[in-house]
Amino acid sequence: MALETKPLHPEFGVEILDIDLRRPSDAAIREIDALWVEHPVLLIRDQLLDEEQQIAFSRRLGAINIHVRTDIRSRQNPEVVLISNLRLESGENIGALASGEARWHTDSCYKPRPDTGSMLYAVEVPKGAGRTSWANTQLAWEALPEDLRARVRPLRGEFAYRIYDVDITGEEEVEAIRALTPDVVHPMVLTQPGTGRQGLYLDPLQTYGIEGMAPEESRPLLARLVEHMTSLEFVFEHEWRRGDIVLWDNARVLHRREPFDPVLPRLLKRTTVFLPPDRYPVPFAQPAG
Ligand SMILES: [Fe+2]
Repeated sequence: MALETKPLHPEFGVEILDIDLRRPSDAAIREIDALWVEHPVLLIRDQLLDEEQQIAFSRRLGAINIHVRTDIRSRQNPEVVLISNLRLESGENIGALASGEARWHTDSCYKPRPDTGSMLYAVEVPKGAGRTSWANTQLAWEALPEDLRARVRPLRGEFAYRIYDVDITGEEEVEAIRALTPDVVHPMVLTQPGTGRQGLYLDPLQTYGIEGMAPEESRPLLARLVEHMTSLEFVFEHEWRRGDIVLWDNARVLHRREPFDPVLPRLLKRTTVFLPPDRYPVPFAQPAG
C-alpha cells in the first residue's frame, strides 16, 4: 500500500501521513527510501519514539554515524546528538546550538565521507519559534545561468570543521575537533545517483576556499553562490510541532535555524546516517592540499 503524502513546498519536500515509525514495515521503509530520492526533505508528524526506537528507524535508512563531538551526545546513546538550549542546574548545556541563529550550513561536509542523511526529532519545541528552513541546492543549480554553471562545474571546494558562534563550544575544543578532522576537498557540484540531478555543494561557513583559486577570487564567487542558493524561492520553512520528525539529505539542501527567546525550552534529537552507495552522491574526498 502506497504511503499517503502531501507537499511541503511547491517544488520539493513532502509530509508522509499515517505512519508509526516505532514499527514501520519493510514495504514502508522502501517507500520512504524512494520518497527520499525524489525529495530532499521529508516530514513525518505525531511520532512518539524513545532513543532506541529513533536509532532503530535510522539504521533502517543507512549506516548510523557517531558524532565526533562527545559533549553533545545523548548520555545514554552515543548515536543521538541533542540539539537544545536546556541547561543543567550547574549551567552546563545538555546539547548543541543553544538559542541563537544557526546560519545556513550543511551537516558533516567537513568529513571525507559525510553522513549526509540527517534526522531531527522534536521532543519539545516552542510554538511559532525556532523554525528550521531548508534551501534546495539542486533547484539553485538548475536556476544558475549557464556561463556560471560552466565556471563552477569543474571546481572543488575546500572544507574544514567550523561552528557558528551560537554554539557554546570554545575555540580550544573546535581546534581539538579540527585536529581529528583534517581539511578535505569535495566537488562543488554533486550528481545524485538514481536521478542524475545535479546540485551545488558548499557550506557558507565551512567551505573556506576553492582548490587552486586565490582567496580574492574564491571568496566573491562563494558569496555569490550562497546568496543565490538561499534565495527564498528555493527555501522551505518549517514550524515545528512536538513529535515531528524531519529527514533531509545534506548533499541536496542547506539548512538554518532561526534564533528564538532563550527562556523557551527546546529539545530535538538528531541522528545521522550514511545513505547506501546507490543513493550517496559525495565522491570519496581527498585531503585538502
Ligand atoms: Fe545542522
